[in-house]
Amino acid sequence: MKKEYSCKIEQVQHIHEDTVYITIGCQQIADNAVPGQFVNMSCSYFLKRPFGIASVNKDKGTFDIGVKIVGKGTADIASFSAGQTVNVLGPLGNGFDLSSSDKFILVAGGTGVFPINFAHEILAQRGVRHVVVEGFRNKEQITMCSPEYVLTTDDGSAGIHGNCCTGLDTLIESEIEGATVLCVGPLPMMKAVGAWATGNGLKCYVSMEQRMACGIGICLVCVCKVKAEEQGQEFNHVRCCKDGPVFPYEEVVW
Ligand SMILES: Cc1cc2nc3c(=O)[nH]c(=O)nc-3n(C[C@H](O)[C@H](O)[C@H](O)COP(=O)(O)OP(=O)(O)OC[C@H]3O[C@@H](n4cnc5c(N)ncnc54)[C@H](O)[C@@H]3O)c2cc1C
Ligand code: FES
Repeated sequence: MKKEYSCKIEQVQHIHEDTVYITIGCQQIADNAVPGQFVNMSCSYFLKRPFGIASVNKDKGTFDIGVKIVGKGTADIASFSAGQTVNVLGPLGNGFDLSSSDKFILVAGGTGVFPINFAHEILAQRGVRHVVVEGFRNKEQITMCSPEYVLTTDDGSAGIHGNCCTGLDTLIESEIEGATVLCVGPLPMMKAVGAWATGNGLKCYVSMEQRMACGIGICLVCVCKVKAEEQGQEFNHVRCCKDGPVFPYEEVVW
């Protein structure tokens, strides 16, 4: 199936000083994307940049991404405007299996709120029980947070003072029991959330946002280690772009 498209930018919203939310026209990506998948998008510099799909609108034939400026590629993308054309490769990666459970706990840190938003939308459409826990450094960084979410900030400037695990500790037994945890965020945060899930007897899936280049499994820039005791060795190398980015927490060599 064709995966690279020339797409029109429909809308660019500056949601924070350093973050933009971009709506891009592409019927094929809107029709085929599942939560946890990502796109690799062109900018003015060498190599495309990967972004989790934050939402899709099949009727309008659009999908959304949220982009936080961290370097020259993301700064360039944040300067794009509606009407401009970009090359987009996607949808890429495996995504979350949302049929694996009838109850979920979605946990997002930083830009993880974008892919987690897509998972929330699909679960809400399907009427699947879930809670969302979001963690940010401070109130200025809060993005895509709904009043019914559990909100935490590291400095206590909004919501619960603490990190995502502090937020998870406030969940009640009926929200926790039998749930599957889906988590996207910085590595230390995903490691801590995975340990929390394991401690509560829950299955946890994490999205490994490694540095990427090709995005389609060729260059091996994005490899990470997963346990491979069943194959008689300590670990295997896997490509986060093609074999992931979603992996069971307990399989990742942290
Ligand atoms: C599967 C996946 C999904 C992603 N989803 C989003 C998203 O929804 N929204 C978003 O804003 N960002 C997302 N990222 C991160 C985003 O791709 C990087 O921030 C971006 O490629 C940096 O490009 P740059 O040229 O601006 O930065 P560079 O100049 O290349 O680097 C600037 C800084 O960003 C860090 N960085 C570069 N690449 C990554 C990366 N892959 N992950 C973490 N840090 C990185 C560098 O270590 C450096 O500190 C995702 C990454 C992956 C792999
Ligand atoms: S980014 Fe090239 S193999 Fe994953």
